[in-house]
Amino acid sequence: MPQIIDGKAISAAIKDELKKEVADKNISAVLAVIQVGCDPASTVYVGSKKKACAYIGIGSESFELPEETTEEELIALVDRLNADDKINGILVQLPLPSHIDEKKIINRISPLKDVDGFHPWSVGNLCIGQEGFVSCTPAGIIELLKRSNIEIEGKECVVIGRSNIVGKPMALLLLAENGTVTICHSRTKGLKEICRRADILVAAVGKPKMVTREYVKEGATVIDVGIHRMDDGKLCGDVDFDDVSPVAGAITPVPGGVGPMTIAMLMVNCVKAASRKEN
Ligand code: GUN
Repeated sequence: MPQIIDGKAISAAIKDELKKEVADKNISAVLAVIQVGCDPASTVYVGSKKKACAYIGIGSESFELPEETTEEELIALVDRLNADDKINGILVQLPLPSHIDEKKIINRISPLKDVDGFHPWSVGNLCIGQEGFVSCTPAGIIELLKRSNIEIEGKECVVIGRSNIVGKPMALLLLAENGTVTICHSRTKGLKEICRRADILVAAVGKPKMVTREYVKEGATVIDVGIHRMDDGKLCGDVDFDDVSPVAGAITPVPGGVGPMTIAMLMVNCVKAASRKEN
């Protein structure tokens, strides 16, 4: 059986380390969390983020805005929070209602408070290997690999998915760790063959159980970013866990793999934002 990469345990360890750091260094951090509308999944995510803040000793200020909020009103709030010295991080939960341009809002957040790592400055810094905030899910995957003693240097890494939030930053981070990286997407030809070259395969496609054992080399590490609710109410990922497990060397489960790492890394970014300010 493969090594099961326990994201729940690793994220708990990171949160405990942060809790200690915040207490030891007397760090005072406040995260502003903005939700527009009442998408139930967003409400769950936002609730988990605020709970993690409370556990670590980070303050959180909630802004629950109605669905009808205008783009101008949201921009005005972001501007106010950018200018507020008590606020270290700003998180605008996505997706936003369709009448609001997400790009405009993300670009308006001060890069110094961009704890999601979505601002073009943050992405640019990542691209050229400069210090900055890194998107939480891919940063969490690097942490999962490192803490599970899975070497990246010199390894064939294949990322399926090219989103701005996961696929692209994932590829850049693996490259920064000296992996040899291939990015695949919906138009890739010979996807299975390319995936079968991977020592580390990251699936961020958004299709339930798409990655079967035909995509996986014997002994490969398989990281599953997907999360889908099936008809029977159970959760599954982009990887068919039962089919792939017998051939993988290491694999993340869903739930309990990548998911919990996103919030842990958001907390890392919040502490970083507050520490930076104090320097
Ligand atoms: N919606 C789903 N995931 C995320 C995330 O990581 N950050 C934000 N801001 N919105 C999301």
